[in-house]
Amino acid sequence: MICDWYITALFLLILQAISWSNGLSMDYYAFSCPSAESMVMNTVFQALNKDPTLAAGLLRMHFHDCFIQGCDGSVLIDSTKDNTAEKDSPANLSLRGFEIIDDAKNLLEDWCPGMVSCADILAMAARDSVFFAGGPAYDIPTGRKDGRRSRIEDTINLPQPSFNASSLIRIFGQHGFSAQEMVVLSGGHTLGVARCSSFKNRLSQFDPTHQQDPSLDPSFAKFLSQKCLAGDNTAVAFDASPNIFDNNYFNTIQRGAGLLFSDQALFNSPMIRGLVNLYSMDRALFSFDFQQALVKMGLLDVKEDDEGEIRLNCHRIN
Ligand SMILES: *[C@@H]1O[C@H](CO)[C@@H](O)[C@H](O)[C@H]1NC(C)=O
Ligand SMILES: *[C@@H]1O[C@H](CO)[C@@H](O)[C@H](O)[C@H]1NC(C)=O
Repeated sequence: MICDWYITALFLLILQAISWSNGLSMDYYAFSCPSAESMVMNTVFQALNKDPTLAAGLLRMHFHDCFIQGCDGSVLIDSTKDNTAEKDSPANLSLRGFEIIDDAKNLLEDWCPGMVSCADILAMAARDSVFFAGGPAYDIPTGRKDGRRSRIEDTINLPQPSFNASSLIRIFGQHGFSAQEMVVLSGGHTLGVARCSSFKNRLSQFDPTHQQDPSLDPSFAKFLSQKCLAGDNTAVAFDASPNIFDNNYFNTIQRGAGLLFSDQALFNSPMIRGLVNLYSMDRALFSFDFQQALVKMGLLDVKEDDEGEIRLNCHRIN
């Protein structure tokens, strides 16, 4: 039995190694900057000790980075006189933790100048955030190059809070993810908050032209209506433990208390409701599947050597 399992794991590992054809590898910095991973981890842990809510920000930032133009650090680039960058799209509301990436980058530039890409720092920081919050610990391949394009208009390709299950399946499918992987990655909402601006259209109080979203549990709707009286920027947690990486998110949507329409849509879809039920019962399975899906996400459209660079300052193209 154990032997079978071991051989399967080994086989999967070999398959993965083959699929990293973009110059990525495990321990990519083993010779060029051996402390790269521990320096990023220390920087991230120090920051999260002060403010654990930043874990969600870093995870979200990595997701946003990878979904737009691949994992190339494009989300970190500042707008210039001639270009409005991804960062300044309305979808940037929950992006937080840029200063952590800067701190890690500054440290790395002191120790191994010009070696470690911003895209890798972000990928490592997201991984470390998940672990800090009580999620799985795992290795990721590194060696990503930083991209040279960051345009606000590209962010229309991000999943929207108003998406139903079919739209979610479609947009994740465009990036090579199965419906199950989409559900697992949505589970990243076990961390963090959303602003009233992204869900108040579900409440009849704020949008009298629509009826209240019938998929919303009535007492939860009342709670949200109260909260959002304070304004569009009011933050509400996705689940009761927004700084802990657990499977509470799935229990929450089972109860009709999914914060975004796109959260509740998972449970409302007969096609994928079973997966929600599965992960709500098995935290370890969710952790494991999340880790696999995040490694896969971290490989999206990774730049080949000549398509990218090692940015010296994560805010600017060299
Ligand atoms: C998000 O975009 C707005 C403008 O749309 C900008 O003022 C704000 O600084 C951006 N936030 C971040 C975190 O970059
Ligand atoms: C999901 O949303 C899309 C786009 O808005 C729409 O065309 C489709 O009919 C919706 N599907 C369901 C099952 O409601």
